[in-house]
Amino acid sequence: MKREVIIACDFSSQQETLEFLDQFTEEKPFIKIGMELLYAAGPNIVNEIKKRGHKIFLDLKLHDIPNTVHKAMMNLAKLDVDMINVHAAGTIEMMKAAKDALVKMDSHAILLAVTQLTSTSEEMMHDELWIDHSMEETVQHYAYNAKLAGCDGVVCSPLEVEAVSEKCGRDFVTVTPGIRFASDSKGDQKRVTTPAKAHQLGSHYIVVGRSITESSDPVAAYRKASKEFESGVEA
Ligand code: C5P
Repeated sequence: MKREVIIACDFSSQQETLEFLDQFTEEKPFIKIGMELLYAAGPNIVNEIKKRGHKIFLDLKLHDIPNTVHKAMMNLAKLDVDMINVHAAGTIEMMKAAKDALVKMDSHAILLAVTQLTSTSEEMMHDELWIDHSMEETVQHYAYNAKLAGCDGVVCSPLEVEAVSEKCGRDFVTVTPGIRFASDSKGDQKRVTTPAKAHQLGSHYIVVGRSITESSDPVAAYRKASKEFESGVEA
């Protein structure tokens, strides 16, 4: 299995993003564009980054009524990205509406569903969201709903990959944020692991943001993340 590191380009402008990417002269990392960047720079940022040869994960986490998600996904499919997502909390019907739009548009994008954000702790899930099940059971159940709806995989913490694979099969894609090097601080993330640990837990892709983008040497940090994730050994 090829394991890939996806860099979360959470920047506030096209210029900042392209200057960041200019540092990568040898490799063409898989890039995640989230709402911060897309809302600031507009959809053309997708073409700008694609033109440079990067694969794109468009992380907009759609969550609305099925009809709205269907129509939004029809428009987003025109951007021809490689990976795109919705919130599993939007229900099976909503996830199916997203999948139908991608099929209609003949899109090759991997469709993911977000299970629970990695910034949410089990305590927050119980006390604020009133979900009584454990984090692992909830993520596993949402992942199974995503599979029933025709999604290709989920976004979850590496700590939940085993539970997801057990219920949905090893081919069901797991994309895992909440990654930090052993020496980093956690920031706002609650359920974190290192790239090496994510390998051991079976993640297909890891999403790494601040540990690369805020590093004094982002290319070296990307290489370290890739090496650790591919080998399963801390560098
Ligand atoms: O900087 P950091 O590595 O924490 O960035 C993680 C990225 O992954 C952010 O862009 C965040 O929006 C995204 N993400 C997440 N948890 C999810 C889904 C996406 O942290 N469940």
